Amino acid sequence: MSEILCVVGARPNFMKMAPILDALHAYPELHPFLVHTGQHYDEDMSRIFFTELGLPAPDRDLEVGSDTHARQTARIMMAFEPLVQERAPKMVVVVGDVNSTLACSLVAAKLLVPVAHVEAGLRSRDRTMPEEINRLVTDQVSDLLFATSADAVDNLLAEGVAREKIHLVGNPMIDTLRRHLPAARARGAVERFGLTVRSYALVTLHRPSNVDRVDSLRRVFDALCALSEQIPIVFPVHPRTRERMDRAGIRKTPGIHVMDPLGYLDFLGLMDQARFVVTDSGGIQEETTALGIPCLTLRPNTERPVTITEGTNRLLGEDPSAIVPAAKPLIEGKFPKPQSPKLWDGNAGTRIARALARHLKVD
Ligand code: UD1
Repeated sequence: MSEILCVVGARPNFMKMAPILDALHAYPELHPFLVHTGQHYDEDMSRIFFTELGLPAPDRDLEVGSDTHARQTARIMMAFEPLVQERAPKMVVVVGDVNSTLACSLVAAKLLVPVAHVEAGLRSRDRTMPEEINRLVTDQVSDLLFATSADAVDNLLAEGVAREKIHLVGNPMIDTLRRHLPAARARGAVERFGLTVRSYALVTLHRPSNVDRVDSLRRVFDALCALSEQIPIVFPVHPRTRERMDRAGIRKTPGIHVMDPLGYLDFLGLMDQARFVVTDSGGIQEETTALGIPCLTLRPNTERPVTITEGTNRLLGEDPSAIVPAAKPLIEGKFPKPQSPKLWDGNAGTRIARALARHLKVD
């Protein structure tokens, strides 16, 4: 028996791991053991995703919760090390770029357990982003690197990663999107929130650079208020942003429908029918590209350039006053013509499972 520890920790991990766990069913000799670090723990940041994505309950929940980066990373490592020793897995699979990804890959590498990193090679070249540090370190200690796009493969090769460790497999998050789109549409979130198809903007913002400082957050809300004079705005708010809003005394937001974080299906339903999306998330840049919905990204850079060169994404920089002028052509109905990047075809999970089986010689 070959046990594989599959690690999830934060909201964006769940949709990446789901299709891999599904595809592993084709290899009965491989036994996935699902570990939730507990980096995200709320009903609406974690539990609802397990239900909606049909993820099995975690075999172990490390329940680490929130803290500073060092303390959170250290707590995950301290809880994960004895688990790896207890289970003696053949492989540890980590996804994405959150603190759980970094912490668990480091623990595995030091215990000489091979690491597979899903979504390897993405680079913003901006080391002020915590996720960039997580990506760089995780890739360095990984033995199997699963890339979502050709630019990620090039980045890894340029950093000296051996070609035979790298597999271009496509995007498992888009597997999940394709699989759940019919159910998301059937839920009718647009009507439930009193919106009209293609007549609203969907906003998500939670990066430290946009929301942590009171003056930055105020500028964001000034820009959104100006935008709301042209188009209704729906804004499901991440707990980090909510906390900063409370601290900055931002409560009443006329024209902006501020709400708690949404589950996967309602959010996908709203994204699919939006006129455009404004975000600073990584994954949403990719999901809007797959859906063909225009995306305005409030960041100076992206680790996902394929969403610009082939998809619907546009970088606005960090100044929120760029939102209104960038939205104008979209409100007038001028949309970019998207392409779906290579291998974003719904079969990435299958390719990853096959590569894991080959690597562990059970195929
Ligand atoms: C993390 C990821 C980020 C990802 C985001 C998606 C890192 C470095 N960052 O950022 O890449 O885009 O998740 O959501 O791992 N909180 C809750 N309930 C929860 C989880 C968090 O209230 O279930 C609050 C905590 O008070 C905490 C804040 O949100 O202070 C931030 O949580 P944390 O996990 O540290 O990072 P995120 O900002 O969520």
